[in-house]
Amino acid sequence: MNANHTVRSQLHSSPAYIAAKAAFLKATLDGARGAEGIRGPASPEIHAQYLETIKGLEKLKGREAYFQYLSSGIGSGPFIELMDGSRKLDLITGIGINFFGHAHPALIDELLDGITSDVMQGNLQPGFESEEIIRTVLANVGPKSRLKHGWLLGSGTMANETALKIIRQKKFPATRIFAFSDAFAGRSTAMQEISDNPKYREGQPTYGEVTHLPFYDPKLGIDASAELTVRRMEEEVARQPGKYAGMMIEIVQGEGGIRFAPREWYLKVFEAAKKANLAIWADEVQTFGRLESLFAYQHFDLAEYFDVVTIGKLLHACMALYSDEMNPRAGLVAGTFTGSAAALRTGRRVVEMLTKEGFYGPDGKIAKLSKRFREGIEKMKTGSCKRLIGEVRVIGGMIGFGVLSQNLDDTKKFLAKLFGEGVVAFYAGHDPYVVRCLPPFGVMKEAEVDLALSVIEKTLLTFKT
Ligand SMILES: Cc1ncc(COP(=O)(O)O)c(C=O)c1O
Repeated sequence: MNANHTVRSQLHSSPAYIAAKAAFLKATLDGARGAEGIRGPASPEIHAQYLETIKGLEKLKGREAYFQYLSSGIGSGPFIELMDGSRKLDLITGIGINFFGHAHPALIDELLDGITSDVMQGNLQPGFESEEIIRTVLANVGPKSRLKHGWLLGSGTMANETALKIIRQKKFPATRIFAFSDAFAGRSTAMQEISDNPKYREGQPTYGEVTHLPFYDPKLGIDASAELTVRRMEEEVARQPGKYAGMMIEIVQGEGGIRFAPREWYLKVFEAAKKANLAIWADEVQTFGRLESLFAYQHFDLAEYFDVVTIGKLLHACMALYSDEMNPRAGLVAGTFTGSAAALRTGRRVVEMLTKEGFYGPDGKIAKLSKRFREGIEKMKTGSCKRLIGEVRVIGGMIGFGVLSQNLDDTKKFLAKLFGEGVVAFYAGHDPYVVRCLPPFGVMKEAEVDLALSVIEKTLLTFKT
């Protein structure tokens, strides 16, 4: 809306503000540029102090750190600076937060304009940024989608809790949910049950509300795999009539090991789910923005099936999106915080950049960088790193590849060495495990993909016997 009458708008268009902001932006970007490239710690003494600080943090948290990682908060493009002065090529960005890398000029610009706001926004205290981010996301759900509303939440897990509650309220008294083998939905009391990993619910009660169906099995092929899944679903629905409210699916499983199916498999499963009167919910917390379309359901042309979709991570905010029909009654959903003004501005800008700057489609930037990454890994697999690379699973900006024996121990050993060589990645899956990269394709150049591949190759070769 027109905001010229506001003090804020007058402040932001004043010459003093514009000059100060330009100077701040220039100084920050000039400084951050120095963080480019991979390099080791500033000195052994500084590195030793750094390790002590990390040990201190471990003590405070009561838990060992996964990596010796403590960032300075500054980076340049895909490179991040750590507090010992070392710089790493960051292929995981906190499991997918910084798709546009570190110190991106457009995002710093948004942060600066966010500084003049109150820090946090909430359901009872929305600022114009709340309206802007919800409107921008909903403007991009696509013509086939029935999603009409968006609710901001503080985490992917809370977006998922909201999705579950919305579905249960609409389908009352049905409460049960179908999820899939290897699913991940977060770690709240309800989500730990949807997540198909007993370690995440150790010592916790389970409420027996979730039935896991087999996810796509490439060994069976599309028809047999879909038949098995649908048969299990139909048997369950027949065994407990009127009890099942919905189905939750990650169209591409992130935590589950970058697993996905051909479109026909989803079609068969979703048609059966609709026939069983289930609400269908896509958890796109990890996939959102990262494939060859803004939403994974667009990538697979499945928009019409979804009643509820949850998003997060690279958005810098989290949302539950839902159709008119699923709109819950007042009282079901709220919460103090919806996000900081700076985060909400960042999320809106991220969606604008993703949808306007040539990232999507079969010839978009994501498809090109993804292909280069996949071909590089496949070339190593059949060439220099024969028998050191296992399964390769790549889709858009979600990269998975098995290393060594593909068990957890070997995968972690590889990742620790890779970190030492200057590349940060993580793992996913459960036997077999894969190395997982969610690279900042928003800023990566082909040369930086090649750099990542060469460090991966160099690290793998140290395991050659
Ligand atoms: C598919 C999926 N759902 C939900 C979550 C939970 O999101 P958050 O960690 O923001 O609560 C994640 C996080 O990794 C995820 O990958």
